[in-house]
Amino acid sequence: MRVGTSGLSLNEKLIFEHSDPGRTGYSLPKLDVPAAKLQEDLVREEVKGFPELSEVDVVRHFTRLSTWNYGVDSGFYPLGSCTMKYNPKVNETVARLPGFAWAHPATPPHLAQGALALMFALQEALAEISGFDAVTLVPAAGAHGELAGMLMIRAWHEAQGRPRTKVLIPDTAHGTNPATAALCGYDVVPVSSDGILTAETVRAAMDEDVAALMITNPNTLGLFESEIVEICEAVHEKGGMVYCDGANLNALLGIARPGDMGIDVMHFNLHKTFSTPHGGGGPGAGPVGVVEKLVPFLPAPWVVREGESYRLDEERPQSIGRLRAFHGNFGILVRAWAYIRTLGAEGLRHATEMAVLNANYIRARLEGTYHLPHTRRSLHEVVFSDRDLEGDCHTLDLAKRLIDYGYHPPTIYFPLVVKGAIMIEPTETESMEVLDEFCDAMLAIAREAREEPHKVKEAPRLTRVSRLDETAAARKPRLRWEEG
Ligand SMILES: Cc1ncc(COP(=O)(O)O)c(C=O)c1O
Repeated sequence: MRVGTSGLSLNEKLIFEHSDPGRTGYSLPKLDVPAAKLQEDLVREEVKGFPELSEVDVVRHFTRLSTWNYGVDSGFYPLGSCTMKYNPKVNETVARLPGFAWAHPATPPHLAQGALALMFALQEALAEISGFDAVTLVPAAGAHGELAGMLMIRAWHEAQGRPRTKVLIPDTAHGTNPATAALCGYDVVPVSSDGILTAETVRAAMDEDVAALMITNPNTLGLFESEIVEICEAVHEKGGMVYCDGANLNALLGIARPGDMGIDVMHFNLHKTFSTPHGGGGPGAGPVGVVEKLVPFLPAPWVVREGESYRLDEERPQSIGRLRAFHGNFGILVRAWAYIRTLGAEGLRHATEMAVLNANYIRARLEGTYHLPHTRRSLHEVVFSDRDLEGDCHTLDLAKRLIDYGYHPPTIYFPLVVKGAIMIEPTETESMEVLDEFCDAMLAIAREAREEPHKVKEAPRLTRVSRLDETAAARKPRLRWEEG
């Protein structure tokens, strides 16, 4: 470790602390033409507090930071409900083709036929995969897709002349579902389940004030809602609609289609199911599929085909309107299309089969050591609890200890219906060898909890920063550098 005069390792200094007045990241030959005149009020001599660095300082800084991050390209990432599957590099190559990468969103449609053709083909492919009549690509994330879907449901009820006030949400739904319903102005009515929602429960909760049921299927316990057809019937009998959170479609591709089950609206998470990169808060895509009667309400613009050409349909009088600038996160749409075309129908089905097999393999290896609160068959993820961890060790301790073993921890304390939840989603990406090594680590930690619990309770011990006060980090974050 190299130590600078401040006593800090050069590797640990902030970029501001590397700064050396007068240092620059470029050198240019002397001007041999008159200097250009710039508009004075647009010129700044210096930016106060800005670090002054050479090019190599900057490159090393960012390269170093990138190695401190954990990503699916660096190791197993079993974060349940997030589907951290590998993003094949061919998707990146395709998205970087100049015709796609440099397409300006304001290009007139007659000059953007290739881009529109791709979007139309993706709309059609997603409709075929899910069994819906039409798909919009506009929403920028799963939760944004939920908003689009629920706004369409609201617009439909309003168009019938009888707006409703309530939305039913089972306790196994993803947390964004009640947030979306509330954002759309609905009262959220929680519905209890025993891991699986029954049609009887839904029938009892339904009345003519319920606009929709929002159901996550497979749900956040990784279980398939086996009464989904009867549930949809119960909602429809009272004039309601069924919204499906389809973010867990990785468990159904090529095997079952939500549209065939009676669902009216569903969003996809392209960054979960179709191998596009995850990003914080919106640089993804959350397309939405709808049944025929909701097509007039789709957000604008919508890509349509006329003969051999494509156009953006903006004249949609009943549309819920625009949800964002331009036409969606096009680069993400290209990556998803590349993934679908690379795998084809059989490949997509195989991916799902492998995702389900991998989750069940982990379940089989850990069951007996870790408590499994719901014993129905798992699909693409499996949820354990910390009930049987010994030595006063809990879910958080296990998660921190897994970091010492070189793994990104699974999702913890979610879903809320399981106390001390440990939610593992291996995805289809991983080989049996990786799964075995991970399970060995999980079993070793359970042993440590029994025999040497301090090792688990003090974890992580092998990282550059040990256990943080997470509450303080969240409540009193220090997000900017201050001199002195
Ligand atoms: C089941 C489920 N629903 C909704 C979402 C929200 O999606 P996003 O994070 O893209 O808004 C997620 C995110 O992982 C999810 O797992």
